[in-house]
Amino acid sequence: MLNTPIQKQEKVYYTKTYAALTPSSGYRQLDWQSLKGNRKFIHEIKKVATKLRAKKILDLGCGNGRLAVPLAKSGFDVYGIDFASSAIQRANHLAKKSGTSQNTHFSVGNALSLPYPENFFDLIFDYGCLHHISEKYWQLYLKNVSRVLKRDGYLLLYTHDINSLFYKKYTPRIGQQEFVVENVLTHFFDKADFPKIFQKNFLIISAKLAKHPATSNKRMWTVLLKRK
Ligand SMILES: C[S@@+](CC[C@H](N)C(=O)[O-])C[C@H]1O[C@@H](n2cnc3c(N)ncnc32)[C@H](O)[C@@H]1O
Repeated sequence: MLNTPIQKQEKVYYTKTYAALTPSSGYRQLDWQSLKGNRKFIHEIKKVATKLRAKKILDLGCGNGRLAVPLAKSGFDVYGIDFASSAIQRANHLAKKSGTSQNTHFSVGNALSLPYPENFFDLIFDYGCLHHISEKYWQLYLKNVSRVLKRDGYLLLYTHDINSLFYKKYTPRIGQQEFVVENVLTHFFDKADFPKIFQKNFLIISAKLAKHPATSNKRMWTVLLKRK
């Protein structure tokens, strides 16, 4: 499994972050996990999944399963992968609590080395994982998602936007659009980044920018892509 120094640092950061969440808040007290945000993103993912008649869905960088578990509750077979073991523990806990252990499959692993068979998923969604992957590894990310996603399957991405006010306060800057934000490499995306990464294997169906429902200083891209 690829394990660069920055990835090791990120893994430590996220493992500690998820381990520190407490049951009183249902293990959901990170700023991107607001209930309003949850509802919006689950609704969007479900819409795409239903239109596609998706059976198998992958949540890439699934965290504590806050999106995967409600999708499983709606009847989809949902896989989740994250390199933070504490996040996967939380996800399994959430699945058990909500009675979805049968159709959720969480594992500790790296988005850059996916352990699934070829053409396995109808839909892959990635809320906030790609923006923690350095430009250097974009081709490896593309290779992985292209391999496990079926032809005509969809990839749905949520990533930070370069014009979000959120990024401006962070240093050090380690690339034109890359920063270290709280020990974690974060890439802030320009619309032109998406064809750069994906055009070899995907059609870009839409790329929309919206304010994050929970945090006024963050703008996120929602990008829908179809496997060629
Ligand atoms: C901003 S959090 C979002 C978590 C989850 N998708 C959500 O919406 O709540 C980013 C997640 O991506 C995971 N992550 C980052 N890089 C990863 C990689 N290369 N492989 C697997 N997981 C990764 C982190 O551990 C973290 O849980």
